[in-house]
Amino acid sequence: MADGGGQGDAFDPSRPNVARVYDYLLGGKDNFAADRAVSDQIIATLPQVVLGVRAQRAVLGRVIRYLVGEAGIRQLLDVGSGLPTADNVHEIAHRVAPDTRVVYLDNDQVVLNHATALLADDSSTFAVRGDLFDPPSIIASPAVRAHLNWDKPIGLLLCGIVHYVLDSDHPAELVGALIDALPSGSYVFIHHLLDTGEPDAAELQAQMAKGLGRVQFRTMAQVRKLFGGLDLVPPGLVPVPQWRPDPGTASRADHGVLRLACAGVARKP
Ligand SMILES: C[S@@+](CC[C@H](N)C(=O)[O-])C[C@H]1O[C@@H](n2cnc3c(N)ncnc32)[C@H](O)[C@@H]1O
Repeated sequence: MADGGGQGDAFDPSRPNVARVYDYLLGGKDNFAADRAVSDQIIATLPQVVLGVRAQRAVLGRVIRYLVGEAGIRQLLDVGSGLPTADNVHEIAHRVAPDTRVVYLDNDQVVLNHATALLADDSSTFAVRGDLFDPPSIIASPAVRAHLNWDKPIGLLLCGIVHYVLDSDHPAELVGALIDALPSGSYVFIHHLLDTGEPDAAELQAQMAKGLGRVQFRTMAQVRKLFGGLDLVPPGLVPVPQWRPDPGTASRADHGVLRLACAGVARKP
């Protein structure tokens, strides 16, 4: 059984871990043999998966530029933030608006150690331990409360995390509890792996479940329900390459794997 779901297990490099497998797939160095073994199995199943994780980082960047640059958001709560990588949320946000406050929240201690070290000289970005499985503790966290002003809109980022919540753990209720707590004018971003009904989606899901212990791909309609009744900003919930692509953003026609994840941003009125 891997780390990454539930309570955030103690550090154990002999067990594969969601954050470190993702780091390896992104070409990072903060991973161990067990993580690399699982990653190599996933790559063997679907070699294009590395393009998928890069597309995930790319759409995360586009969403931040939209939220900070166009929607005027100056506070981001990144739940399931992952290990620091080449272009991190706070770096992208600060290029647009240096006064943006960012809270990274993850249940993985290794993620928090790395983020804390990276942020030693940054007074507007903080790393906090927290668990998506326990929204009240996120909302009531003194650290989260101290770093974000809950009277002003917040951009809630749920990038590549909700597919690690099984239906039996009621993802819509967990996400809904966070959305309910957000101030008016806030936004929520979800990136989610897609159940397209095709064999490669099923194979990828099976390989990830085997290696990581838990994952649940969902249909576009199921992901849409995670936003509750909120209206999505254009272009709505779409395959990742179609969410406000930059010039040069690879399309599904370029890489078939890019149809296996969707992205959407909703606004809380
Ligand atoms: C695949 S990474 C995504 C990283 C980043 N959001 C991105 O999209 O590039 C998923 C992250 O979610 C974290 N995570 C998984 N389950 C979690 C939970 N229940 N609560 C908080 N973080 C969790 C993992 O530790 C990991 O860092």
